[in-house]
Amino acid sequence: MTVTAVAPVKKVNPNAPSEETVLSVDHYTDRLFKFRLTRPQSFRFRSGEFIMIGLPKENGKPLLRAYSVASPNWDDTLEFYSIKVPDGPLTSRLQKIVPGDKVLLGKKPVGTLVHDALTPGKRLYCFSTGTGFAPFASVIRDPETYDKFDEVIVTHTCRDVAELQYSQEIVESFLNDPDIGELAQGKLRLYATCTREAFERKGRTTDLIESGKLFSDLGVPKLNRDTDRAMICGSIDFTKDMKALMESHGLKEGSNSEPADFVIERAFVG
Ligand code: A2P
Repeated sequence: MTVTAVAPVKKVNPNAPSEETVLSVDHYTDRLFKFRLTRPQSFRFRSGEFIMIGLPKENGKPLLRAYSVASPNWDDTLEFYSIKVPDGPLTSRLQKIVPGDKVLLGKKPVGTLVHDALTPGKRLYCFSTGTGFAPFASVIRDPETYDKFDEVIVTHTCRDVAELQYSQEIVESFLNDPDIGELAQGKLRLYATCTREAFERKGRTTDLIESGKLFSDLGVPKLNRDTDRAMICGSIDFTKDMKALMESHGLKEGSNSEPADFVIERAFVG
């Protein structure tokens, strides 16, 4: 009798993250940076969704954290905007990546900051603090946003002026984009405020909504369920307070399965 040796079948996990190449890294402050990765052809997402990003762990399982995709879904590459958490298990290492390095990219984008989770309206607000702007960098560059809304107002509030640079860059470069910027011209506005440094606009979004200053500055009526829809992303306290504020204005929270007037995702920290 002859015995044929059979090589053990290696199990391939179809949901295992893919290894992508770092294309660029830009540091904004000692707390914030952005990076760009190759995008696998099979990677599809809806603008505003998040995905698991990570690095192989030296020994054992890889370390992954949720990141909103900041690039629009028509982009050939993927951009992410990240905080650097001192001693954060992932970001303390991720902030050191350089072009050519490998980063793990999950396979299943998910999230609620998507058009599918909102009912139709006239005006879309994207309210953000800190790295909570990231999903909106994607949403406000999606042509679908301008098909669905007559007006798009994205707010970004940070502690320091330097932390507002990324949103300013994204909005300005999109409005001036010779191929696609026309879509957003006359429709998209950025309302940036700072809370801990001198700046042309100061204050927390919640206070500016309650006092009505945000609306008078923008020359728009106060929040109204008939016309306004909102996406909210930021710190835990911010999202909690904004939810209460939206509800006090009569807006109802939506989800992918039950679209309504506003949706929330907290900014992820790793
Ligand atoms: P503040 O400076 O008054 O705390 P962080 O960097 O801590 O995530 O904060 C980002 C921005 O979000 C800061 O400008 C901060 O204001 C603001 N913020 C924090 N918590 C709230 C909240 N509950 N409501 C409104 N804004 C908030």
